[in-house]
Amino acid sequence: MLKIGVLVSGGGTNFQAIVDSIENGYIKNAKIVTLVSSNPNAYALERAKNHNIEGVCIRKKDFENSELYEKALVEHFNTREVDLVIMAGFMVVIGSYFINAFRDRIMNIHPSLIPSFCGNGYYGLKVHEAVLEKGVKVTGATVHFVTEETDAGPIILQKAVYIDEDDTPESLQKKVMVEAEWEIFPEAIKLFSEGKIKVCGNKVRRV
Ligand code: GAR
Repeated sequence: MLKIGVLVSGGGTNFQAIVDSIENGYIKNAKIVTLVSSNPNAYALERAKNHNIEGVCIRKKDFENSELYEKALVEHFNTREVDLVIMAGFMVVIGSYFINAFRDRIMNIHPSLIPSFCGNGYYGLKVHEAVLEKGVKVTGATVHFVTEETDAGPIILQKAVYIDEDDTPESLQKKVMVEAEWEIFPEAIKLFSEGKIKVCGNKVRRV
């Protein structure tokens, strides 16, 4: 049984898509054992409660420095024997202490086709604003393993979404979630749980 720990900061629709995929049997042999929110008011905590999943808030500002915060997160996940960490709309940049503890076992979802519109400053609605500002015709979402460089780790899955002329940042955000994020995140976790992906250098290969 793959034990999953989730990191969130907000609404948690990606978390919900993963919960649903486990409950409906799309992802087999996996269980979400804990959800950690960086924000005490995140609706994701409510979603966890609704599905009898432990939900706690651990805030970076309650720690003296980043390493102590990351140590607390690692201890929280290790106590629960977490095998895979999922960043589902987690808006805190995480450093090498945490990454080393879960190397090649941390997945993040980003709402663009990496390497476009990613890196420092590109998160949430800001990504879609930048996409519309640039006038690209195709965007999408990316699931990747997390490394020390923001949004630059090995890519697991991507899905493209076409942009309409009358799209707003909000309509595009919704479209990218519905058409791409809620589909490829559960799929990536399913592949991982079945041992079908492997990190080779800076790439992910199917095995
Ligand atoms: C999602 O669109 C996710 O891709 C994005 O935040 C949103 C969270 O929504 N993540 C990032 O921008 C990370 N750089 P959710 O809480 O409803 O899943």
